[in-house]
Amino acid sequence: MKLRSIELALPDPAGAAAWMVDVWGLFPAEVRGSTHYLRGTGTIPYLVAFEQSDEEFVRSTTFTCTDAELAAIRRKVAAHGWPACAVTSDDPGDGAGLLVELPEGTILRFLAGASEMAPREGFTKASKRVAPVKLTHVVFNSADAELLGHAVEDVLDFRVSDRTKGMVFVRCNESHHSTAFARAGFASLNHVAFEMDDLDAVMRGIGWMRDNGFAPAWGPGRHGPGDNVYAYYIAPFGPVIEYSTAVEKVPADYRTGVPEDWTWPEQRIDQWGVSDKDFAGLRVAEERFRCRRDWQPQELAL
Ligand SMILES: [Fe+2]
Repeated sequence: MKLRSIELALPDPAGAAAWMVDVWGLFPAEVRGSTHYLRGTGTIPYLVAFEQSDEEFVRSTTFTCTDAELAAIRRKVAAHGWPACAVTSDDPGDGAGLLVELPEGTILRFLAGASEMAPREGFTKASKRVAPVKLTHVVFNSADAELLGHAVEDVLDFRVSDRTKGMVFVRCNESHHSTAFARAGFASLNHVAFEMDDLDAVMRGIGWMRDNGFAPAWGPGRHGPGDNVYAYYIAPFGPVIEYSTAVEKVPADYRTGVPEDWTWPEQRIDQWGVSDKDFAGLRVAEERFRCRRDWQPQELAL
């Protein structure tokens, strides 16, 4: 199982795409109709899709999986009665599978048979091009993060890696987390994190953003759970986005951490202790994009 992409709807997809290319560092992949697809340097055909809509919403967050994993999800989703429907992707990479609505409305799409492509080469330290590789996690706000952590373990076979005072971190492979649920009191998109090659690439990203007039809303810093370096920004078109690198890989028997495992000295919000955070600004941005279901649930054929 692998996190692949996020599909967002917003009023100006061309403008958002241009900013994500010119400033954030992604690459144009394709335009189909009014939908702009952007990729990184890795093998995934697109990481972000922007479709045109007068309203902002998250259409889906897409994971790729095997036929066996898809069949297991289909069985358990049907058994638990979650809203779902079969889907054939018409996005780059194709694939077919399921759209699934979690409790509180978060919509995940699981695709089997989706294709990848050759990576883009040459974006090393020497190239000085800021170039995200892939998505590393998509985090959601939630009213009941504990419920959601248990739900995705039970139904999707995900595993909770750590619980902190603010978050429930969830993995779907050896990466410490591919998603997480923030204890926010409401459901929405919290942020989208892009993986950079290394710490140097994160720092060059911060520099390039600064050249373009953008300061981090949080960071740089190094998280506790996942041990990843981060720098969060509020994109001009709304959502919170992150440069990140080196999320810890964990074994299958990783001991699920509890909030008491992840405490900081007072005033500190990361391992390094150098990080400031624009709590109010981030909160406003985190409330903008919510998942929306515009498909009808169906009986799943087992
Ligand atoms: Fe993050």
